[in-house]
Amino acid sequence: MPLSPQAERNWEQVCSVLQEALEEQPGRQLFALELGSGTGQHVVRFAQKMPFVTWQPSDIQEEARQSIRAYIAATNLTTVLPPVHLDASEPWEKWGGVPRGSCDVIVAVNLLQYSSFKTARGVLNGAGQILKANGLLVTYGAYAINGTIAPPCNRRLHEELRKMNPEWGLPDVDVLRQLAYGNGMRMERMVKLAHAGLKKNKIKL
Ligand SMILES: C[S@@+](CC[C@H](N)C(=O)[O-])C[C@H]1O[C@@H](n2cnc3c(N)ncnc32)[C@H](O)[C@@H]1O
Repeated sequence: MPLSPQAERNWEQVCSVLQEALEEQPGRQLFALELGSGTGQHVVRFAQKMPFVTWQPSDIQEEARQSIRAYIAATNLTTVLPPVHLDASEPWEKWGGVPRGSCDVIVAVNLLQYSSFKTARGVLNGAGQILKANGLLVTYGAYAINGTIAPPCNRRLHEELRKMNPEWGLPDVDVLRQLAYGNGMRMERMVKLAHAGLKKNKIKL
């Protein structure tokens, strides 16, 4: 099965922030949509740690969905649904049949950095429709903050991403905040995660 070292390194910290956030959600049977699930390593770990959540993984790439299916089969988890094709830059009506107002939480780990602004806009527009009232969008990754990218490792990451694809790069928290506002959401919290000498910002909208 494909193994992403990055996902192996960050799953625990992302998971603990998610657990803390979901404890605050009313009701203990929750429904979560993961965007850009990649290999599927995250969703199976999240499901193991949070059995009170039904998880819907998704990805734009068939290769990723194959990997997610393999992780689900290997872990025998019954709370993870089969992955759906979902292009987060598309309108929510095309989001794999996920109904409007159905999600308690939407999770996107390292998606906004590895995709174009069109995807960030799609994520915020879609979340505004797909989330229940008081639902949460939780994103993880490095960000620019009000036009500034710091520390130097994040600047290097931004440059590397731009080289891979000129449309990729660290999104600006201020821009995301405005997109959220335009879709009936507000930025509630930003949590700094220290990891292997690097600091990454995780924002929760
Ligand atoms: C850097 S990987 C992160 C994967 C996983 N979340 C993780 O952290 O290990 C980005 C993932 O987003 C997916 N992706 C890119 N653009 C997308 C889009 N517009 N809609 C949905 N998924 C997308 C890619 O196929 C890839 O699996």
